[in-house]
Amino acid sequence: MSRADGSLPPGYFEALYARDPDPWRFASSDYERAKYAATLEALPRPRYERVFEVGCSIGVLTEALAPRSGVLLAVDAAEAPLAAARQRCSRLVQPTFQRMQVPEEWPEGSTFDLILLSEVVYYLDAADIRRLAARVGASLAPDGEVLLVHWTGETDYPLSGDEATERFMAAAAPFARPAKQSRTAQYRLDWLRAGMAGGGEPGWHGRHAGPAASP
Ligand SMILES: C[S@@+](CC[C@H](N)C(=O)[O-])C[C@H]1O[C@@H](n2cnc3c(N)ncnc32)[C@H](O)[C@@H]1O
Repeated sequence: MSRADGSLPPGYFEALYARDPDPWRFASSDYERAKYAATLEALPRPRYERVFEVGCSIGVLTEALAPRSGVLLAVDAAEAPLAAARQRCSRLVQPTFQRMQVPEEWPEGSTFDLILLSEVVYYLDAADIRRLAARVGASLAPDGEVLLVHWTGETDYPLSGDEATERFMAAAAPFARPAKQSRTAQYRLDWLRAGMAGGGEPGWHGRHAGPAASP
């Protein structure tokens, strides 16, 4: 499968959403529901005061994350899913949704104790992943956490889920290290903690590890 050359632009996603308001079936797929449960389960704190979710799409994960968040900023490069996300989360008080294309655009000056990068880093090319990591490093609280979740199957995106995650973690190594990692047949989950000299808790495998059904 041939791969896209550079970071995918907002227009790529706008076109997807114009054809289908939920192109990945976030709201209805059992696979996504189980992955979201594993994502939330990987977060060790019951509550995070300042959360930044990149690539929130139609806000299904945002809605699940909100009860564990104080301030929650959720952004997406495309406008169309943000309208759906606002609607989905309208009964919740705290999520703020903004159109923002990372890493060019960023909530500069803000500090977060959790930054969530779920199914979004592999849309960036290697240079943008380094810029993204620098942005994350500048915005992460001293005891902050970064959670990456990525599909590991074949795609035509600029990078595979594994390549994107490994590149991000290499660029983030000066300020955060992987402390918990797990993998199913379809996706990987990498939890990074700020300020770690190294190591963390290698060999962590959540109960979701192992073969899973097709999405
Ligand atoms: C596959 S969806 C992931 C949705 C959600 N994070 C989840 O895991 O269910 C990817 C989303 O990232 C957005 N996106 C892609 N590149 C982006 C960028 N550079 N900055 C912000 N959002 C981006 C897309 O518009 C799309 O809505």
